[in-house]
Amino acid sequence: MSTARRDALLAWYDANRRPLPWRQTRDPYAVLVSEVMAQQTQIVRVVPHYERFLALFPTPESLARAPLAEVLAAWSGLGYNRRARFLHDAAAHVVQHGWPTTSEELQALPGVGAYTAAAVASIAFGEAVPAVDTNAKRVLSRWEATPLEGTRLAEAAAAALDGDRPADWNQAMMDLGARVCMPKPDCDSCPVTDWCADASVYSAPARQARFSGSTRQARGAVVRALVHGNSASHAALAKQTGLATTRLREALEALESDGLVERSGRRWQLPAAAGRISGGTTPGSS
Ligand code: ADE
Repeated sequence: MSTARRDALLAWYDANRRPLPWRQTRDPYAVLVSEVMAQQTQIVRVVPHYERFLALFPTPESLARAPLAEVLAAWSGLGYNRRARFLHDAAAHVVQHGWPTTSEELQALPGVGAYTAAAVASIAFGEAVPAVDTNAKRVLSRWEATPLEGTRLAEAAAAALDGDRPADWNQAMMDLGARVCMPKPDCDSCPVTDWCADASVYSAPARQARFSGSTRQARGAVVRALVHGNSASHAALAKQTGLATTRLREALEALESDGLVERSGRRWQLPAAAGRISGGTTPGSS
């Protein structure tokens, strides 16, 4: 794999990197928070939430100690609230067992899949492992002139990686994919166009399901209604969220099964419990 291409991309990154707050730290906790927030949320929206969240919960200890209701309140506006619970549980795991330091072990943390584990392992611990998200997949596919998946994608990512600067490499790929090698690429601005085999290869990103009318929307509305502390009856929630009875019931059942709301008699509330340790589930819906 081309050393010249590596150097060209890293030089571009050194000169153009986005000044994101988590790029000034190697604290695994801060990096994990940033990566979990970035899983389903645009980076520009992540930044203010990241800063507020870390101000409220600066360490895994402080996060694990906090009631889940407070964590969900701090998460408010980011959506996909299951991520907040995963992070809360991951903090409890770290407090109890210490940090897993390899990408493989990091995947045992709740909500941490292969991509997030590789991002944290490379950025916080310097492990030479590629973090392959949809952006990196598109970039690599264009370099190889074919839509890459599975083993071929993993092999191409590993071969392309700069083993001396894996944190910068992975984030350079993210920045390139987000700002230059977009679905509609800006090849005139590309620092590595000389090594690109076919910029017309387009790996379509996974389509976001329609938000309006979705369960995700209903779940978000319920959490927002409960986030200010009080419990509420079904009728009060229906009034506050404007959801029809069946949709509201479905949203509450789904949230309850994810541990994001709890029932007390005939009333609903956000859980008060501190972080607990759970299995290594990965995020899906909100
Ligand atoms: N998307 C996810 N993680 C990121 C990071 N560390 N930098 C830029 N974009 C990202």
